[in-house]
Amino acid sequence: MNGNDCIKIKSSLYDYEVEFVKDFTDVLQGLGEKCVYVIDKNVYGLYKDQFTVVPEDRIYLMEPVESKKNMETVMEIIGFWSSLSVQKSWKVVCFGGGITQDVTTVAANLFLRNVDWFFFPTTLLSMCDSCIGGKCGINLGEVKNQLGVFYPPKKIFIDTHFINTLTHGDYLNGWGEILKFSLTNYADFYEELKSEKSYIPCDNIEYYVKRGLEVKKEVIEADEFESDYRRVLNYGHTFGHALEAYTHNEIPHGQGVIWGIDVANYIAYKEGLIDEAYYLEIKETIKTCFLTDEIVVDDPLRLFEMIKKDKKVRNDTLYFALLDGKSHLCVHPVKIGQKLENVFMDYLRSTNEYYNN
Ligand SMILES: NC(=O)c1ccc[n+]([C@@H]2O[C@H](COP(=O)([O-])OP(=O)(O)OC[C@H]3O[C@@H](n4cnc5c(N)ncnc54)[C@H](O)[C@@H]3O)[C@@H](O)[C@H]2O)c1
Ligand SMILES: [Zn+2]
Repeated sequence: MNGNDCIKIKSSLYDYEVEFVKDFTDVLQGLGEKCVYVIDKNVYGLYKDQFTVVPEDRIYLMEPVESKKNMETVMEIIGFWSSLSVQKSWKVVCFGGGITQDVTTVAANLFLRNVDWFFFPTTLLSMCDSCIGGKCGINLGEVKNQLGVFYPPKKIFIDTHFINTLTHGDYLNGWGEILKFSLTNYADFYEELKSEKSYIPCDNIEYYVKRGLEVKKEVIEADEFESDYRRVLNYGHTFGHALEAYTHNEIPHGQGVIWGIDVANYIAYKEGLIDEAYYLEIKETIKTCFLTDEIVVDDPLRLFEMIKKDKKVRNDTLYFALLDGKSHLCVHPVKIGQKLENVFMDYLRSTNEYYNN
């Protein structure tokens, strides 16, 4: 080994590791000749000079849009590998964010009843979050993430230089998850994040990626197949997803999650799980660091309707990831009804005052 930082992940399929690398091109050569590549089209365009060691006729260029995250694309990739007579001993090498990761996971899992795959995440979100856990979701028609398998990469290589070319929105998508992880466990992590000098760009981003992964590692090792505890990772995602859907994805995922964390904290405060001071303290961090402008919801009832479609609703009860103490989350049942609707309306009113005073 060359002494790079590593995080080891235990899984019932096989253990695997994340290695932080200084220059991904060094690793590429070490993977050998029998490789096929799935590369995010935009990433390939931006970093073409560094992919010169990769034979062009072995690359499937992935168009990274939700409408391509489906079985048609998976079959196209599999057809491409088949045309190259790829054998089980070959390696699949993937570069991209969560979209490219999700289709590659399914294709690598199905082809020849599974071929080993290696992942180089290129977005902040895929570095700090989706690259571990083995989970993936691909879309079925219009419905997001309806199909999926558990099939982790054999190894993940993180080169944080890729972050430099992300858009502000894609940077924020990663920060949404990092903020979530910092509140999931370890008060010191949140305190450090709160006092960071600059978030976009951030000189210490590799440190936050590592800490985020360490929190996720603990959760997935305790509950790999999301039977219960892993649901804490949905913190901020219930209202976050609803906001994304309500704005037809105009508000990016990360911004939705950060807002969803604030809504969830207000609900936790009203449920008596945390006190008002803690809710307000995190709210201040959110306003100062990430959401400097208020998110205005013109038609709150329409957004509230979307909550009912959340996957975590059973018998009109939402199994909500909420804080129940400092940097501690629980899965708390909340009935979807008039009371929750009133709490949500109160949240919007009080937040409007908060931002405008
Ligand atoms: N499998 C999981 O555990 C998991 C977890 C979370 C999210 N997801 C899925 O991941 C997807 C979102 O993934 P994402 O946010 O990582 O990004 P993405 O794959 O959706 O890509 C977003 C954009 O960033 C661009 N991009 C990627 N790397 C870049 C770079 N280095 N420089 C410039 N541009 C770059 C892409 O070309 C694309 O335009 C969603 O489909 C979501 O459902 C999966
Ligand atoms: Zn998320």
